[in-house]
Amino acid sequence: MKLTLRVWRQPGPDAPGRLVAYEMPDVSEHMSFLEMLDVLNERLIEKGEEPIAFDHDCREGICGTCGFMISGIAHGKMPATTVCQLHMRHFSDGEELVLEPWRAKAFPVLRDLVVDRSSFDRIIQAGGYVSVNTGTAQDGNALPVAKPDADVAMDAASCIGCGACVAQCPNGAAQLFTAAKVSQLALLPQGQPERWQRVERMVAQLEEEAFGSCTNYGECEAVCPKGVSIDFIAMMNRDWLKNVCRVGRESRARGGAG
Ligand code: FES
Repeated sequence: MKLTLRVWRQPGPDAPGRLVAYEMPDVSEHMSFLEMLDVLNERLIEKGEEPIAFDHDCREGICGTCGFMISGIAHGKMPATTVCQLHMRHFSDGEELVLEPWRAKAFPVLRDLVVDRSSFDRIIQAGGYVSVNTGTAQDGNALPVAKPDADVAMDAASCIGCGACVAQCPNGAAQLFTAAKVSQLALLPQGQPERWQRVERMVAQLEEEAFGSCTNYGECEAVCPKGVSIDFIAMMNRDWLKNVCRVGRESRARGGAG
């Protein structure tokens, strides 16, 4: 099949960018989207031009490294699919596709389709972990977890941190990512000792970064390649509010003003 790709080319973070058109006259329907870009890059290198920079690692929909906008949709038009798992059979002969990096203030463009997602790392560093020294791995049955709780925690843990939620949100909000990372631990017994500090610190860091606010558009859920539900945002907001009340109660009990 023949495709026209209009790709965002930007040589560096402070350089101006522009869309450059590339003709792909012989795309196999069996290729993945990234394999098609590999072919394009080989041709660019042969011609002595700079290859297109794009992030990828596992190419199995697991790591969350890949991702860019395909004609305005994060990871492209196939639901619940990362761009590395998107195959060319879903496109039509003669189509024109516009490839752009994630567009969000908190994800500055580094080069072409690659953005800096270290804001996500800082949210995790603020509290997205269990800090006790656990030693070697426990036997799986040593700490029983109710099946419904394990299932919902697993749904939250399926977030791969790709950033599609932020890129698609008209506000550039990162509530879905943060909520998934807060909830995956808040739902398990291992996450209880630091539950309240975790939500407080991670939400505080979320607000420190250049993300926008959540106004319930739901675009994040629609493009999430793992189908993470916006119910987790409600769960995070409830925990955050409960913590505010808890801190106020404790302060009053100590005779403080709060
Ligand atoms: S490269 Fe790992 S999820 Fe796409």
